[in-house]
This record gives sequence, structure tokens and C-alpha cells, in this order.
Amino acid sequence: MTQVLRLTDLIVDGKLYGQRVFIRADLNVPKNDAGSITEDTRIRLSVPAVRQTLDAGAAVMVTSHLGRPMEGQFKPEDSLAPVAKRMGELLGCNIPLVTNWVERGVSVSPGNVVLLENCRVNPGEKKNSDELAKKMAALCEVYVNDAFGAAHRVEATTCGIAKYAKLACAGPLLMAELSALGKALSNPKHPLVAIVAGSKVSTKLIILKSLVEKVDQLIVGGGIANTFMRAAGLPIGKSLAELDLVAESKAIISSANSRGASVLIPSDVVTAKTCALSSKARIKASGEIDDDDMILDIGPKTVATMTAQLEKARTIVWNGPVGVFEFDQFGNGTKMIAQAIAQSEAFSIAGGGDTLAAIVKYGIYDKVSYISSGGGAFLKFLEGQTLPAVQVLQSHAQARTAS
Ligand code: 3PG
Repeated sequence: MTQVLRLTDLIVDGKLYGQRVFIRADLNVPKNDAGSITEDTRIRLSVPAVRQTLDAGAAVMVTSHLGRPMEGQFKPEDSLAPVAKRMGELLGCNIPLVTNWVERGVSVSPGNVVLLENCRVNPGEKKNSDELAKKMAALCEVYVNDAFGAAHRVEATTCGIAKYAKLACAGPLLMAELSALGKALSNPKHPLVAIVAGSKVSTKLIILKSLVEKVDQLIVGGGIANTFMRAAGLPIGKSLAELDLVAESKAIISSANSRGASVLIPSDVVTAKTCALSSKARIKASGEIDDDDMILDIGPKTVATMTAQLEKARTIVWNGPVGVFEFDQFGNGTKMIAQAIAQSEAFSIAGGGDTLAAIVKYGIYDKVSYISSGGGAFLKFLEGQTLPAVQVLQSHAQARTAS
């Protein structure tokens, strides 16, 4: 990967070059109807960058998006107020929330931190307006991008500001994500096994095409596996599948085979006539699916093959549950992946909303080598794309070296 400047590069003898620091974090956390935060991982992961800059004596401004508000139309539910409170608890200080900060400017003294209200409310944010980016860059001497979760978005706080800031660098979370993903995908220890599951091939087609070039084994699950089963000429009853992508799925299978890799097509599955909490599950061989069957998980023989592959793996990439694990009778395949990862010595990386829910359900949070904080950004990385927010940091670092 082309180098980026890191926040740690700018801290020399405990002092940060430049006093005013603008941190773009991803504090986009889920909230309940009452407006309370229901899951604070992203806030906790954003604390180190803030702490490092405060400890280095900087005057710190942090901002993030929260949800997808309309620009120029701030509503109370868009506010980062609950985030300011939670971050203050984690840092052990009061964090004032600053509104209208682009126009009014920001007053913050060295050793203190303020949170700048939801950056997506600022007109021009989503379109990466140059005018807005310049105004924001003028607020600081150092811009720190620590928002891996938003690194696939070309917005003024993720991209434009880095073009105009005096110094633009990557924060500790962004660096940790890039390093873990790079370890798993750019320079993996083999065998590399990737599990790509979920409802649709279409949403993961580029990922499948990209990973099939790298992996030793590709394990597919969910609606994706059903489409691959059709590609292998197997019946799938009334299961979720994308028949228009059968040809693409065949091409992925041949591409794997042509380089001595394999795609694990389920040899047996768990079926039911409906998909509900009370549905009765039945294990069937893959050739014996009835027209009114729905495939809702992989079967025990497939689980055994998969587990054997995962046991030998030295790198594991996991995105997507292989069954409807929300209902326990269809959760065994996903549970077994979780257990195999927990027991494995391989470097494992996982990401995506459903995958995180499965990791939490099966209690392996601290057994995965790295859990990505990104949703869409994680998927884009798996697609093999350089994330735009990283690209702009790379250009900044290159320009600096050249000058
Ligand atoms: C996420 O939740 O994946 C990130 O915060 C990005 O949010 P967005 O999809 O609204 O850009």
C-alpha cells in the first residue's frame, strides 16, 4: 500500500506538530426510539485518537456523521449530543458540542476537546464541496482521518478537507483497519479461506470475483450458496436465489478451479417449508430438495467439510452468516464457523452488520483476530478497491515527500 502519514509520525517527544487538530471519526452508532445509544463500539474505538492528541497538548475538534440527515436542515434526532455524553464518560471529561461550527468557527484551547455537530448537516458535505472543505481545513493545522467506516464515502470531511489541510494523516483506528485488512488480503498466509454469505450474489459479486483470485477455498452461504447450487445444476425449491446470476456464479467456480482453488457448494442443507421461528427444520441432501422447500442453512456434512477447511486455514476472512441464524434451528452452520474461528490459530478478520450480530450471539468477540468497524467500507476493501479517503491521504503524503 502506498504510504500515508500517521498521527504517530506527527507526535515527536510527546508533542504534536501543530496545535489545532480536526479529527474525522465515525461515530455513527445505533440508537433506540428514545434516542439512547444501543451499541457504543465505534465511540470506544475512536477514543485513542482523541486521547493521543490531547496527551500531545493539542486543541482537539472531533466530528462525525450520524445517520443520513438532510443538509441544511438540522433536526434534534440528528444531533451528536448522546455521542458527546458517551465520549465524555469514556474520556473522563466534559465534551462541549459545537453547533454551526463551519460559519461561526471553533473555539477550543490546548488540552481540551470539543465535538462538532453532525457534519452531514453542513451544505456541501455529501457532494464533497471544495468551498466547504476549504473552510473546514482552515479550522485546523492537522487533519486526522480516523473514520474507517466512512472511508468509502467521498465527502467533504472524509476527502476534500485532506486536500486543503496543512497536514493530513491517518488516525490509529484507520491504521489498524488498513493493517489488519492488508494482512488478510494483500499478503495472507495460506491457506486463505474466505466465507462470503448473505442474501444476494448481486451485492457481493465484485467481492466474490476479487476474492476468488486470492483464496484457496471460498465458502458461500445464504442466498449466495443457493445461486451457486443452481450453477452446479442442483435443485433449490423456492429458496432465495438470483437466477440471472447463475452464469456469473459458474464463472466464479471455474475461475477458482482453474487456479487449483475451490468453492464449497453445500452437499447437504437444512430446509423448511416456511422461514419462521416455529418452522420445522429438515436436513436434506442437496440433490433432494422439493419444489416447496426453502434452504435456510448448510447441513452437517457441509459443516464438517467447512470445519476441516477452516482448521487448516492460516488466514480466514468472514463476511456474512451462512444461514438464518436468528432462528436457532437454522443457526448451526454460522455457529460452527464462529466456533472454528474461535479455536483456530489463523489470522481471522470479520466484518459487516450481520456478521457482528453472529459474533456477539455466539460469544466469540475476543476470539477473532480483528473485527472491522466498517460496514460498507469493509465490503469495498474486500472488493479490492482503494478507499477514496485513504487515496487522498496517500496523495497528501506523496506530495509532501516530493516537496
Ligand atoms: C456505516 O455505518 O457503515 C458508516 O458509518 C457509513 O455510513 P453511511 O452508509 O451512511 O455513509
